[in-house]
Amino acid sequence: MFRLGILISGRGSNMLALSDAVRDGVIPGAEVGVVISDKACAAGLERAAERGLKTVVIERRGRSRVEHDQEIHAALVEHRVDLVCLAGYMRLLSADFIEAFRGRIVNIHPSLLPAFPGLDAQAAAIRYGVRWTGCTVHFVDEDLDAGPIILQQPVPVQEDDTVETLSARILKEEHHIYAQAVALVAGGELKIEGRRVLLKKKEGN
Ligand code: GRF
Repeated sequence: MFRLGILISGRGSNMLALSDAVRDGVIPGAEVGVVISDKACAAGLERAAERGLKTVVIERRGRSRVEHDQEIHAALVEHRVDLVCLAGYMRLLSADFIEAFRGRIVNIHPSLLPAFPGLDAQAAAIRYGVRWTGCTVHFVDEDLDAGPIILQQPVPVQEDDTVETLSARILKEEHHIYAQAVALVAGGELKIEGRRVLLKKKEGN
C-alpha cells in the first residue's frame, strides 16, 4: 500500500477529500497512514477521527522550526508514510525536512501559480482584477508555493464575487484535482525534469 501522511492546521476539507478519494478507489492502492495537525484545535482532527483515521497533534510549543519538523518527520516515518500531502498546513517547512522528503511532498494552493503565491490568494485575485484564477497542486521545494506543478484547474472570477464565494468555487475544484494529482504520484506515473512534471511513457508506447 502507498501511504499518505496528511498535514493540516485547520478545517481539513482537502484532507477529507483525499480520504474520500482513497475510500472510493480514486487513488488506487493508497491508504491514509496518518493525519498530523500542528494545532490541537484544528476542526479537521475530529472529522478525521470520526472516519477512523489515525490522528496525531504535534504543536510547535515554542520550539525551533527544525525541532518541530524533526518530530513531524519521526511521526511520518513511524507511520511509514510514502507521500506527505500538505492540506491547509499553515507553517513553512525547514530545509532539512524538505530535503528528507524531496519529491515526496505535495501541496494544494488556491491560485493558478505562479500568480498569487502566499496567504489570501483568493483576495489577491479579486483585488488584481484577474478574470480567471484557480488552484494548483505542486511538489514542494524550498521556495514558497514554487515547486514543480502537477495539475492546475482554472476557475472564473465573477463581478459580484466576494472572497467567500470565490474561495468556495475554487475549493470545490481543489478537492477534485488534489485527489487526481495524488493518484498520479501514488501510481508512479510522474517524473520531474527540472521545473516540469511529465507523465512517464507507458511500456509498449
Ligand atoms: C485551501 O484553500 C488550500 O488551498 C490552502 O488552504 C486551504 C485549506 O483548506 N492551502 P482545508 O483546510 O483543506 O479545508
